[in-house]
Amino acid sequence: MKFLKTRRKRKRILNSDLDMGILSEKKLLIGVSGGIASYKVCEVIRQLTDLGASVQVVLTKHAANFVTALTFETLTNQPALTEMFPEDGMVATRHIDVPRMVDRLLICPATANLIGKIANGIADDLLSSMIMVAGAEKTTVCPAMNTDMWFNPIVQKNVDALRELGYSFIDPGFGELACRTEGIGKLASVERIVSRMRIELLYSNVFKGKNFLITAGPTREFLDPVRYLTNASSGKMGYALAEAALSRGANVKLITGPTVLDTPEGATLIEVNNAVEMEEAVKISYPSTDILVMAAAVADYAPIRASRSKIKKGKDDLTLGLRRTPDILGSLAKSKEERIHVGFAMETENLIANARKKIQEKNLDLIVANNLLVEGAGFETDTNVVTIIDREGGEMSLPNMSKRELALTIMDEVAAFVGTRSSQIKSAIHV
Ligand code: CTP
Repeated sequence: MKFLKTRRKRKRILNSDLDMGILSEKKLLIGVSGGIASYKVCEVIRQLTDLGASVQVVLTKHAANFVTALTFETLTNQPALTEMFPEDGMVATRHIDVPRMVDRLLICPATANLIGKIANGIADDLLSSMIMVAGAEKTTVCPAMNTDMWFNPIVQKNVDALRELGYSFIDPGFGELACRTEGIGKLASVERIVSRMRIELLYSNVFKGKNFLITAGPTREFLDPVRYLTNASSGKMGYALAEAALSRGANVKLITGPTVLDTPEGATLIEVNNAVEMEEAVKISYPSTDILVMAAAVADYAPIRASRSKIKKGKDDLTLGLRRTPDILGSLAKSKEERIHVGFAMETENLIANARKKIQEKNLDLIVANNLLVEGAGFETDTNVVTIIDREGGEMSLPNMSKRELALTIMDEVAAFVGTRSSQIKSAIHV
């Protein structure tokens, strides 16, 4: 990640001595399964215990071939658990008691085998039984494996099934793998894992009582009953943002152009066709909105006249007259008051300069900028490569990641903004 000026300032605050003890009320269970990346979890534990978290490890028998229970016990100061059937003095129901007592369960690394077990309801050892007790809401999964294993359709199907159930994922990154090949499958960096756990432990309910208005998808500007101008937006980014806000306790209204996506559980869906309808829907809900996220790819132009009947072809060429559609986000710049406004910028050149201009012109707090020409970025993919820019000029370039993980990261940034406005969250961030 590239942190520029103001971002560095915020990072320094987060990593200062003031941070020590920030997680002191939090209990974390870390499930370690048998992959070579399990050695990296030692550093994750170190950093989380430095922040005050109480950490206990449960490891599979295969994991114990890579890192011993003794290492984890030394780092956590707590017994590291492996056996389903406990030794003397330990209760036989600990596979239920321990996950119930903790605030979160982090599975790190999660092998293809373990992911398969969770997705198929198999609980044949202590870790998989504890995962079944903890359930989707409490669990974060950090996969790490060889690229071929990761892209094996069975693994991808299992991952998708778990995401659908609400398990939170920290996606593997790209890099050199233990098998000496390069590809996707490397455990996410320690920095990413610690930062996500910190957010999930502190802010799982950070948006409770907050009203989000999120727009998604394309608009269709009809020329006649069968033809329209549109763009390639799939709506995946906006829907992922709705899910991410819901997972942190928000009330979410999702105003969407035409998509084929399922409504996120718990969201209020408002379906629209064109830019004018989207503007009307946004303006109706805006007075009760705390946070507006405009992820929709609103058409900037619509046919001046839409014909009521199908336009028949003639001998000559046809020239279309287009008029500007309303700039929904721009038109709310002056009514913003204490609300938080997040916009998106899709560019093919001068990404940062154009995005900064849009922050000023549309009076935004954050803008998520992507270059449509970068591989992995753009409309129809499941991934995106973006830079998030805040109104003070702070800039954070993120690696290629799934739209779902990106949505969580954007919500982390929104949470930081809510934090600057709400004393309760502010103290959680800075104390
Ligand atoms: N947007 C909007 N209404 C429009 C067009 C865009 O509210 N009619 C919002 C988008 O949802 C996005 C942001 O404004 O959050 C930026 O959109 P973008 O199309 O990138 O920028 P434009 O302002 O339309 O400028 P241009 O197309 O010239 O880059």
